[in-house]
Amino acid sequence: MYTEKDKKFKRYTVTSALPYANGPVHIGHLAGVYVPADIYARYLRSQGEDVVFIGGSDEHGVPITIKARKEGVTPQDIVDRYHNIIKDSMKEFGVTFDIYSRTSSPEHAETASAYFKKLYEQGKFVEKVSQQLYDEEAHQFLADRYVTGTCPKCGNEHAYGDQCEACGTSLNATDLINPKSALSGSKPVLKETKHWFLPLDQDEQWLREWILEQHKDWKVNVYGQCKSWIDSGLQPRAVTRDLDWGVKVPVEGADGKVLYVWFDAPIGYISFTKQLKGDDWEKWWKDEETKLVHFIGKDNIVFHCIIFPSMLKADGSYIMPENVPANEFLNLEGDKISTSRNWAVWLHEYLKDFPGKQDVLRYTLCSNAPETKDNDFSWKDFQLKNNSELVAILGNFVNRTLVLSHKFFGGKVPTLGALTDLDNEVLAEMKTYPEKIGRSIETYRFREALAEMMNLARLGNKYLTDTEPWKLIKTDEARTATVLNISLQICANLAILCEPFIPFSAEKLCHMLNLEKLPWAKAGEMLMQEGAQLEKPEIMFEKIEDDAIDAQLTRLANIKEQNALNAWKPAEPKATVAFEDFGKIDIRVATVLECTKVPKADKLLQFKLDDGTGTPRTILSGIAKYYPEPEKLVGMQVCFINNFAPKKLRGIDSNGMILSAEDRDGRLVLVTPSQKVSEGCNIG
Ligand code: MF3
Ligand code: ZN
Repeated sequence: MYTEKDKKFKRYTVTSALPYANGPVHIGHLAGVYVPADIYARYLRSQGEDVVFIGGSDEHGVPITIKARKEGVTPQDIVDRYHNIIKDSMKEFGVTFDIYSRTSSPEHAETASAYFKKLYEQGKFVEKVSQQLYDEEAHQFLADRYVTGTCPKCGNEHAYGDQCEACGTSLNATDLINPKSALSGSKPVLKETKHWFLPLDQDEQWLREWILEQHKDWKVNVYGQCKSWIDSGLQPRAVTRDLDWGVKVPVEGADGKVLYVWFDAPIGYISFTKQLKGDDWEKWWKDEETKLVHFIGKDNIVFHCIIFPSMLKADGSYIMPENVPANEFLNLEGDKISTSRNWAVWLHEYLKDFPGKQDVLRYTLCSNAPETKDNDFSWKDFQLKNNSELVAILGNFVNRTLVLSHKFFGGKVPTLGALTDLDNEVLAEMKTYPEKIGRSIETYRFREALAEMMNLARLGNKYLTDTEPWKLIKTDEARTATVLNISLQICANLAILCEPFIPFSAEKLCHMLNLEKLPWAKAGEMLMQEGAQLEKPEIMFEKIEDDAIDAQLTRLANIKEQNALNAWKPAEPKATVAFEDFGKIDIRVATVLECTKVPKADKLLQFKLDDGTGTPRTILSGIAKYYPEPEKLVGMQVCFINNFAPKKLRGIDSNGMILSAEDRDGRLVLVTPSQKVSEGCNIG
């Protein structure tokens, strides 16, 4: 197979970003990284290529230690929990990793440690002593995330040492005003510490040449980010940290220091390959005839295009990635996916709600993948793609073909007779798909590839509509046999060509056709033998009804409401008021004599009050929604503004204003004295 720059590769090392094991994975991960990587790996295998597809959990880094501390467990407990959840989800969704390992394993530590040591001994690092914030009570240097304080930009008092979430500014912990340690709450002090830096500034030349000159073929979003990094000048990067969770720095005098998570994690790709291949691992990383491809999300671009290649180059014995097809982000119903706000569709939850429908999600996410820009996942679109594409086009075509073959020909592949022009055209078009789809996959245009696969199903559907075998059978059995034979050939082609995208359905289809799994090279051919027995048709895709979708939308609406409540803060203070000004407001207590709904005004309650004057007072108040049984308010005491300018509402004179508190959810609650007092008495 000829691919990038018409170079023939002997084998493929395909990696997918290692997800942090501090939470489960969601549709964003699947759409951005694992579905495209899996499509690619499956396709290559179908092409008979030698592939390793590497995955695993990224189990180091500060956020994992913070989560562990919050829950009062060890970081290892956290990563054990999520590693298994993530691993199961990947398996359930048919992501065909050749290995799914983890960076907290001793094998990984050994490889990462040796990698560092080699570079260290060859003098590839620059040692630097710098001032870092230190917690004297906890006896620990503080990672940026472990420091909070006031943002120098916007004044937010709860900014983190790496970023202010209020204004989005990236910070250094030393920028914070009034810094506080998240460990002990004490004020951190500056203390000297030594770290090892990868001198990226020295790599600018070859990176510029390698990426900006030799890889103009990379995706626009990837190339653009690399260019802007390189153009703005590369700085040395620390590859060690003062932390007690990670791979120990294997150098004397480095107690309490670990490798920076972004140093050890990509080495995970290598250590997992070793775990998988044993002594045979090296050719997957060091042979020029191996094509190395990294599947990642856009936030990982700099690490995979600049920093990791610099690490590989520093060692000197490794190949460079041939491509890094990073995707942009997937949003959910118009909002950014967020783990902390629980704004996500979690894979393990999807499986509970839509058991057996892995392919529907794979299909939707691929057809909507954020390949060139951020994209949105919506449940309505998910339903539409299922009902009007998978069910109405692919499922319908396969089902009609099989049902008719059973009905008219006893479930045996009917005989192909003389071909008409239409038959020839359809078969000729069928033959074009394997190459078309393959080319799109090889150039990482998975949406396009998927759309082409669907076009083949459309071709089949149209062919049935044009030939109408269900009518034809009454007049011309031989011709009907030919039409169904051709339709079955298209089904068999689809079974090969849809496999990278929707593997569970491909398997079903193979089963119905009584076909072995066939390689890509067979696609385009006549694969169904005359007289071969077909299995009974099964439903490939079922319609998804509105209630299933509404349940998901309700779940998200509840989360949104909950998030709004959590984000609630008391209103900003109003300008100061002098005592005399306050005194101008005449606030008094009254007892409710009557309370009724105002007809045709769903918000309003009409109060009749005893205000101590002997004449009942009428006040209207917009709180009907919160007091559905207004008669129950009779006898209760309320507070009202006596000198509020009278108003006419719905033809009723309202004389005053009753005071309510507005709760965080917008609910209005009447304010009442804590003990019974005389009607008409003053409040102040
Ligand atoms: N854990 C990182 C993330 O989710 C990705 C690590 S990829 C690797 O953003 F290169 F470090 F392995
Ligand atoms: Zn800020």
